[in-house]
Parts: sequence; structure tokens; C-alpha cells
Amino acid sequence: MNKLIVVAVVMVLLPFHASAQDADAGREKAQACAACHGVDGNSTIPQYPILAEQTARYLYMQLRDFKRGRREDPAMSPMVANLTKQDMLDLAAYYSKQKFNGQNSRGDLNAASRGKEVADAALCTICHLGGFSGQNEIPRAAGQHYEYTLKQLKAFKERQRTNDAGNMTAVVRTISDEDLAAMAAYLSTLR
Ligand code: HEC
Ligand code: HEC
Repeated sequence: MNKLIVVAVVMVLLPFHASAQDADAGREKAQACAACHGVDGNSTIPQYPILAEQTARYLYMQLRDFKRGRREDPAMSPMVANLTKQDMLDLAAYYSKQKFNGQNSRGDLNAASRGKEVADAALCTICHLGGFSGQNEIPRAAGQHYEYTLKQLKAFKERQRTNDAGNMTAVVRTISDEDLAAMAAYLSTLR
């Protein structure tokens, strides 16, 4: 009887184990990404997002969306063409476990306090959590490069980026470009 239960448990666990996320395998696979996203996901180039400490679920979903063409970028889209689902899970696990080194590009810091007011009024942290640390499929936005963040906020507003199930496009629709820049500056100061 006990033996039967063990067999049943192993049979349930095996397929799960086969697709479990493997951060060590991800480290190897991430060599192809370092030129743009930096060693350990700490990108030094403002147009290339910092991936360190990003949530694994969000990272995986973005890779999948690039692969499906639901999100597009001329530099990034070709990078996912040959990735398998397992590759994407491993890469997501790897980057989510790396530490953000605190180095990023900031916007106009004089605008950051205005940016905080706009973000507070828009209740962004209901989804992104306090300090914009993110959770599951909702990204960490704290400490991201200013230029990258502003580009994304504008892309949501102008509906060039539409893989957000309407969550972001609805929130930023009525916010001026000046206030989007102020929020991007504010987010760049968070740790
Ligand atoms: C040639 C430069 C380049 C290379 C190499 C590259 N990327 Fe990117 N990646 C980008 C750019 C640019 C963006 C931002 C696109 C945009 O502005 O929407 C991006 C975005 C991303 C995002 C979305 C991050 C977010 O916060 O939404 C993920 C995840 C990602 N890349 C993972 C990878 C992985 C994994 C690899 C290696 C397999 C890789 N990238 C290789 C340029 C690159
Ligand atoms: C209803 C929930 C919700 C609210 C409210 C919300 N967001 Fe988001 N946000 C999301 C989700 C979900 C995504 C990821 C979309 C995707 O998968 O492409 C996202 C993506 C982002 C990104 C892109 C991150 C990246 O790495 O590309 C930024 C920046 C961002 N949000 C900032 C904000 C700001 C600033 C506010 C307030 C003005 C806000 N969000 C309000 C759910 C929300």
C-alpha cells in the first residue's frame, strides 16, 4: 500500500520536475544576453532593462510574449527565436535570483517628488506593491533605468505595447507625458 502511494507521488512529481526552473542552467544560457543586459542582469545601458531581481514569473511571461510576437522590439525579438520553454524558465529563474547592484540611470531628480505624487494618486502600488518591488506577473519597477521605464510608459499610453491585458494602458491613458517622465524619474530613485 505504502509502495503504491510512493509510486503515485513520483508519477505526479516527475513531469513537474522535468519543467522546474533551473537557475544554474539559466546562468549558462544567459551568456548570450550579457552584451546588452550586463553581467548578472545589471545592465549599464539605459535602453536595455535591468533584469536582476525582477520577478521570475514576469521575466518568463515577457520572453514568451516576445517569442509569440505579442511584444516586439528590433533588438530583443530575435533573441528569443531559438529559446525553448525550458530555456525561458531557466533564464527567468537565473535573473530573478541576481542582486540589483544599485547602479542605474536616473531622470531629472527635481521631478521625482512630482512623480511620487502622480504615482500615489494613480494607486500604482495596489498592483506593483509598496516600493514598486513587484510580485509574480507584476514587474518590479524600482531602480530601473529612467530611459527604459519612460519608453515603456509611453508605449503603454500610445498602445504600442499591448501585452499587459489592459492593466497598464488603462492607468497611464490620462497621464501627461511630462508626468510620465516625472514618474520614471521617481521609479529610478527607488531601491
Ligand atoms: C542586442 C541586445 C539584446 C540582447 C542580446 C538581449 N536583449 Fe533582452 N532586451 C533588449 C532590449 C532593447 C529590451 C527592451 C525592449 C523594449 O524597449 O521594449 C529587452 C528586453 C528584455 C526583457 C523584458 C524586460 C522587462 O523589464 O520587461 C527580458 C526579460 C529580456 N530582454 C531578456 C533577455 C534574455 C533572456 C536575453 C538572452 C537570451 C536577452 N534579453 C538578450 C535587448 C537585448
Ligand atoms: C491593475 C494593476 C496595475 C496598476 C494599477 C499599475 N500597473 Fe504597472 N504593470 C502592471 C502589469 C500587469 C505590468 C506588466 C504588463 C506585461 O505583462 O507586459 C505592468 C508593467 C509596468 C511597467 C513596465 C515594466 C517593465 O519592466 O517593462 C512599468 C514601468 C509600470 N508598470 C509602472 C506603473 C506605474 C508608474 C503605475 C501607476 C501610474 C502602474 N504601473 C500601475 C500592472 C499594473
